[in-house]
Amino acid sequence: MIWWMQALIWMIPAYFANMAPVFMSKFNIAGLKRPIDGGKVAWDGNRLTGDGKTWQGVVFAVVYGGTMGGILSIWDLSSILIGSVIGFGAIFGDLVGSFTKRRLKLKRGQNAGLLDSMDFIVFALLFALPFYNFELRQILLLLIINPVLHRSANVIGYVLKLKNVPW
Ligand code: CTP
Ligand code: MG
Repeated sequence: MIWWMQALIWMIPAYFANMAPVFMSKFNIAGLKRPIDGGKVAWDGNRLTGDGKTWQGVVFAVVYGGTMGGILSIWDLSSILIGSVIGFGAIFGDLVGSFTKRRLKLKRGQNAGLLDSMDFIVFALLFALPFYNFELRQILLLLIINPVLHRSANVIGYVLKLKNVPW
């Protein structure tokens, strides 16, 4: 397969994992829609990660990532395990991003520019490294097109009234 298509396919579980919490945010499944930080504040007086980061988001990121991995496994392009690990990497990166935002005194949902779009893909890539022989050009391509793909997904989420803000 052509190198850029391969790279995009490898990151499909990451994008679904990143969108999963938004798709599920209208629900509270098994009481999982509670903040991971349990409302705790850090040394600086601001929340650790905030109300926008819930257990439900993490669980469904792994489920959506694993599901996409399972679908891609039909064509030998991924597996449930790989998709789940990449999904976890993506949502872990999203948590790191929110932790960083809170340290920068940014409120939940406040625009943090590239931090909002790059956090999940950087960590998804790191978690995917053990499974794939990435070429440098593939990693660069994914990093460069990510802000555009991420922004498009968020605008769609905003139009569908799934997200309050288009970023
Ligand atoms: N979400 C969640 N659990 C997660 C990640 C996201 O429940 N681990 C849901 C929340 O409803 C959140 C929405 O998905 O509001 C959008 O996610 P995101 O844009 O990452 O969060 P923000 O609300 O913008 O918060 P932050 O400022 O921390 O990025
Ligand atoms: Mg956000």
